[in-house]
Amino acid sequence: MLKIKGGQEISWEVQISWSKNASLPIIAASLLVGKVVLNNVPRIGDVFTFLEIIKSLNIQVEFVWNTLKIDSTKMNLDNPNDELIKKIRVGILLIPSILNKFGEVNIPYPGWCNIGKRPIDEHIKWFKAIWYEDLSKWENVHLKWKTKSWNIELNAGFAVTATENLIIANILREWKTTINLAAIEPHVINLIDFFNKAWAHISISYNHKIEIIWVRDLSENIEFDIIHDYIESGTFVIFGALTSKNYLDINNARINDLSCFLEKCREAWVKMEDLWNDKLRVYRSENLKAVKFQTNIFPGFPTDLQSPFAILLTQADGISKIQEIMFEWRLNYLVEIEKMKWHPAMLNPHEALIFGKTKLNASTVSSWDLRAWVAMIIAWLIAAWDTHITNVEYIKRWYEDIIGKMKNLGVIIEDVETLK
Ligand code: EPU
Repeated sequence: MLKIKGGQEISWEVQISWSKNASLPIIAASLLVGKVVLNNVPRIGDVFTFLEIIKSLNIQVEFVWNTLKIDSTKMNLDNPNDELIKKIRVGILLIPSILNKFGEVNIPYPGWCNIGKRPIDEHIKWFKAIWYEDLSKWENVHLKWKTKSWNIELNAGFAVTATENLIIANILREWKTTINLAAIEPHVINLIDFFNKAWAHISISYNHKIEIIWVRDLSENIEFDIIHDYIESGTFVIFGALTSKNYLDINNARINDLSCFLEKCREAWVKMEDLWNDKLRVYRSENLKAVKFQTNIFPGFPTDLQSPFAILLTQADGISKIQEIMFEWRLNYLVEIEKMKWHPAMLNPHEALIFGKTKLNASTVSSWDLRAWVAMIIAWLIAAWDTHITNVEYIKRWYEDIIGKMKNLGVIIEDVETLK
């Protein structure tokens, strides 16, 4: 449990960490390369869990500071850690690498999720399209190589992990693959850059089209850099606007990836300055105005920033409207935050109104959606009194040293065992 002092102000400068959502698919893709050195891998719970899983496939792993060395030359399927694969959804990223190497995969169905249904039907549909047979039963995913397929067109439905899985699945397939309706999030591009560095021929265009030209072999040895996390950066924009003394400088802010989000911030009257070298200065912003926004696929407003932005809107004059089009449970945190005497109106699972400006009161609250959890920390920082936060271990899964970063910014925050 965390204890946060209410009504705090933070200062100066923060360094953004590297992207979780880029690291995990690139670690999975590394299994096709042999020996890989990945720089800038965040030290977070999901990465550690994923590494435990690949170690159970007899892959050698060395993780020192943020440099990860992976040697998959002796990979085998003798003792996969099914319990862990079941636990995290990104276990499905292992499917295409295993299929490429062994022609057959049989793993537990990925775990339940707290932000929405998150089926994997798109993944299975397109594995079948490239001629794998689906032998799955209810509790597992079982696919087996059937026969050779030729040039093929797939539609990824803009789904992020499905696009990543289709890239990994087709990278060594003979002939040409075209993926239409592909997700083009920065982490998808980072995955493509990884493969191209390993001698692949993949192109991506802004009309959501990816083309993969067959290469016989990938390089057996590469070193590659993971990008910074634009979602963490956007979260600190909100921190800066609501809680900085004067301003907060965000280093490695990935400003270009956040254009739609930053535009909405400006519309809500957040004051910002684009400095040099991808550094963004966010000023303490009073007189915020209500706005209407809708989450969308990249380059639209990211669903992962919906909840922190909603906290900003509690401090804006007027009635704001949220439309969360992606995940049906991603507004659930509003019910928790009502305990802080903020009165949102849930219109339906995808839409809500926020009435501002509201003075938030402290209360013990909790969340099972990581992004909402961080939003709550911001809410607590601006709340009138001290607050307790439960489910602390959750945040360590996805944000690198977020508590340490906040302490460096001057936040008074304590780990306490139990609520007194
Ligand atoms: N969908 C299907 N069938 C599928 C796959 C997806 O219907 O086979 C639907 C989902 O139910 C959902 C929508 O398509 O409604 C979007 O799903 P998508 O596949 O794009 O999401 P994801 O790949 O499961 C990734 C990120 C999420 C992020 C979303 C949207 C990773 C590991 N996860 O999820 O990250 O919210 O894209 O950008 O990259 C987070 O970091 O907080 C997080 C949840």
